[in-house]
Amino acid sequence: MAKTYDLIVIGGGPGGYIAAIRGAQLGMKTACVDEWNSGGKPALGGTCTNVGCIPSKALLQSSENFEHAAHKFAEHGILVNGLGLDLPTMLGRKNKIVKQNNDGIGFLLKKNKIDFFHGRGSFAGPPSAGDTKVWEIKVAGKSEETLHAGNVVIATGSNARALPGSKFDEKLILSNSGALAISDVPKRLGVIGAGVIGLEMGSVWRRLGAEVTVLEALPVFLGAVDEQIAKEAAKIFSRQGLAIHTGVRIAKVTAKNGVVVDYSDANGAQQSATFDKLIISIGRTPNTVGLNAVEAGLVLDERGFIAVDDECHTNLPGVWAIGDVVRGPMLAHKAEEEGVAVAERIAGRHAHVNFNTIPWVIYTSPEIAWVGQTEQQLKADGVEYRSGTFPFMANGRARALGDTTGMVKMLADAKTDRILGVHIIGPMASELIAEAVVAMEFGASSEDIALICHAHPSLSESMKEAALAVDKRTLNI
Ligand code: FAD
Ligand code: NAI
Repeated sequence: MAKTYDLIVIGGGPGGYIAAIRGAQLGMKTACVDEWNSGGKPALGGTCTNVGCIPSKALLQSSENFEHAAHKFAEHGILVNGLGLDLPTMLGRKNKIVKQNNDGIGFLLKKNKIDFFHGRGSFAGPPSAGDTKVWEIKVAGKSEETLHAGNVVIATGSNARALPGSKFDEKLILSNSGALAISDVPKRLGVIGAGVIGLEMGSVWRRLGAEVTVLEALPVFLGAVDEQIAKEAAKIFSRQGLAIHTGVRIAKVTAKNGVVVDYSDANGAQQSATFDKLIISIGRTPNTVGLNAVEAGLVLDERGFIAVDDECHTNLPGVWAIGDVVRGPMLAHKAEEEGVAVAERIAGRHAHVNFNTIPWVIYTSPEIAWVGQTEQQLKADGVEYRSGTFPFMANGRARALGDTTGMVKMLADAKTDRILGVHIIGPMASELIAEAVVAMEFGASSEDIALICHAHPSLSESMKEAALAVDKRTLNI
């Protein structure tokens, strides 16, 4: 006997579970189907909770603490003798945090009276003739279920992209999953791809003692980041000991006792490097495996993403898609925003996701965060702008923290002064960027930020000073 719902969400990651919660809040009878398995049990939260945002940030924090104890505590007059690394405890802490998040999401589904089904959801086919408004979803898990609903949200996420010819074995050749669970610090760690995962995971294992080499295909480092910030980042990371080679072409990866990577360098010279482990972080591919979506008539684009319009409608009536499985940045908060917006639209309400104010953060040390346009984009678009920067070196709180690397940079329209982009490299950039997001969402000018009282001493004063710098009137430099 089929169970009937107003809304079925396939996928329990940040896009899916949030869409389900908002749908339930809006009065819809909602089901959420997710297949993630941890020791035979459901593990809600998708990539983000299980092998993405949460565990990576847990390890980034632990490894940073370790590095501080080894290299930074002494300047505070704190002497640490016999410092050691207990990696099993560090990994255990990370696993515990993941589990707390899994359970927390399960609790939220219950609290919102959402029926959860553990298993793979797939379309039974096109809607049965005569009733084009009802979709049938089969759930294949410990027990088989048949669900019906007029609205289906697909939030099936993404998978790590493999390098052609090199499968992930998660022992020597690691995706993000393996990179978060290495049981002994490798002496030599190779990373292919100097993107977000490569830099975050490379930083974790470097801090714990690995020699890390990052091989990047593009000739420029962090091409999507504001050039001035990216150059600063390259300098800092290489000072920290990350060896980053840009402009490489990977020829062959051979895994035996270690991993040998043959590649040509930026000058075209043939090189060969041997690593104990290799992380491949060259982007992610949308996941529609086992969904039977195409058979149900769903259209994918040429790169395998589910084709959607600006409002996340697919080509099928009542079928929506959100998060990593559709166009746009692969970020948890983007997936969440789309999840809420789609639930609102299904309920007949208006909703909008502003892609221009989605913040990006790279959780390295220093952190890199930005929102809006980069200076190179403004130049390419012929936009006249004014720019203001303020270094953390001149910020009292940063000095007290012992972390004065980096700067805040603000870009504003030359005529209207409206903020067009904010770029930060430095301590707590992930938190500081929120002020810029709010400002841009409300169409603020740099002068607006300059006029606002910021607490002293705080890192956020650097945002105010960068705004003052747009008008060439900084107070503290
Ligand atoms: P997912 O989180 O991938 O969830 C999809 C869910 O659907 C999964 O549970 C999957 O098992 C399930 N599923 C798939 N197919 C089916 C099916 N047919 N039936 C049932 N269930 C199915 N983003 C950030 O914003 N900040 C970060 O700090 C960050 N760090 C990251 C670190 C790493 C190492 C990685 C890999 C990613 C990181 N991301 C980060 C990206 C973030 O994880 C993704 O953007 C986000 O998880 C996408 O959410 P989603 O709901 O679209 O998909
Ligand atoms: P990415 O897109 O950030 O970086 C991939 C890098 O690999 C690029 O620099 C690309 O030029 C390079 N590359 C591609 N093919 C290559 C090849 N054959 N040889 C060498 N280099 C190659 O992808 P990544 O790091 O895998 O992360 C995937 C996504 O996950 C990110 O784009 C982001 O959306 C999300 N993520 C977000 C995080 C955050 O918000 N802090 C953290 C980690 C991941």
